[in-house]
Amino acid sequence: MFKICIIGCGAMSDLVHGDSLKKYAEENKDTRLCGCCDLDAERAEVYRQKYGFEHSYTDYKLMLDSEKPDAVCIVSPVNTTAELSCDVMKRGYPVIMEKPPGMNLVEVEQIVNASKKYDKLAMAAFNRRYMPLLSHAKKIIDKFSNISSIYYTMVRYRRYDEDFSTTTIHAIDAVRYLSGSDYKSVNLSYQQVEGQRENVENIYLDAVMKSGTRVHIDFVVAAGIQMEKFTVNGFDNTLDVYLPFGASPGGWLKHYYNNSPAIEVVGKKDVPDFISQGFYDENRIFFENVKKDKSCNNSDIHNAYSAVEIAEAIRKRKSNVDIIWE
Ligand SMILES: NC(=O)c1ccc[n+]([C@@H]2O[C@H](COP(=O)([O-])OP(=O)(O)OC[C@H]3O[C@@H](n4cnc5c(N)ncnc54)[C@H](O)[C@@H]3O)[C@@H](O)[C@H]2O)c1
Repeated sequence: MFKICIIGCGAMSDLVHGDSLKKYAEENKDTRLCGCCDLDAERAEVYRQKYGFEHSYTDYKLMLDSEKPDAVCIVSPVNTTAELSCDVMKRGYPVIMEKPPGMNLVEVEQIVNASKKYDKLAMAAFNRRYMPLLSHAKKIIDKFSNISSIYYTMVRYRRYDEDFSTTTIHAIDAVRYLSGSDYKSVNLSYQQVEGQRENVENIYLDAVMKSGTRVHIDFVVAAGIQMEKFTVNGFDNTLDVYLPFGASPGGWLKHYYNNSPAIEVVGKKDVPDFISQGFYDENRIFFENVKKDKSCNNSDIHNAYSAVEIAEAIRKRKSNVDIIWE
């Protein structure tokens, strides 16, 4: 049997991870959803009943000792992710953790080191990478002879978060993934949202990737709708993508090649968000990777350094970042 435990039964876990794990267990009969844990006992118990876990807990250490799972999902508050991930790996279990995989370079380094020291797979749940539409886009882009520019727009309706940097990391990581190259240098500027607290700002990012690709990302927190879209240009190629969020249910992409009419792919509107937005596949791929090789050789967490560093720079309202390490 393949045994799964989850730590954190709060908003995000209930919105997308519970359904993802339930679907995985339904499709893979050798799966046991053995334990779910939250500091709030009632929340953990309601979650257990809703998604079909065998036991609920309020102490993850007790859960791990009792269940001895094959894989652990961590969906806890951002300031607890690094500590919990490291401790779970120390106790002998591979982890997938919600983004951000650490609040700063020190924390992401701790996770990378714990993965190596305890030889456990650690994976960051950057769900954009696992969206079926974005995966399709990536396959098209990988055939471009070059990528000259990427423009990514992340738009939200009245998102007056205390710290929006932990959401910007999605677009920062997605662009890195799409370009197939890491960031080299990044410039940042900020625009106060009228009538809001001082730190409620739209954020504008300009970057050059190590490959030479030019990047621009807009993070507009106070616009008319929730929307994410991007354009990728390469020689003779343009790809336009609207991801499946509020403004474009299902999403769509258009690929223009050689000045000809676009080849269009339209996402299905009736697919649940936890599938179209990549949560199901990030968990599924994590479980499949654990089954193949649960050692640190299969970790992808080291790919998160630059995204965590840029998100931290945004949190500190820095105006530039030079990525110095390889
Ligand atoms: N991928 C996305 O699009 C996306 C969107 C929103 C949030 N998130 C991420 O999801 C994570 C959780 O966010 P949320 O909005 O669900 O937060 P939340 O506060 O609603 O839920 C977190 C839960 O974790 C529990 N918890 C805290 N410490 C714990 C511990 N030691 N053991 C067991 N349970 C513990 C809390 O009691 C709470 O129920 C964060 O990392 C956040 O960045 C991701």
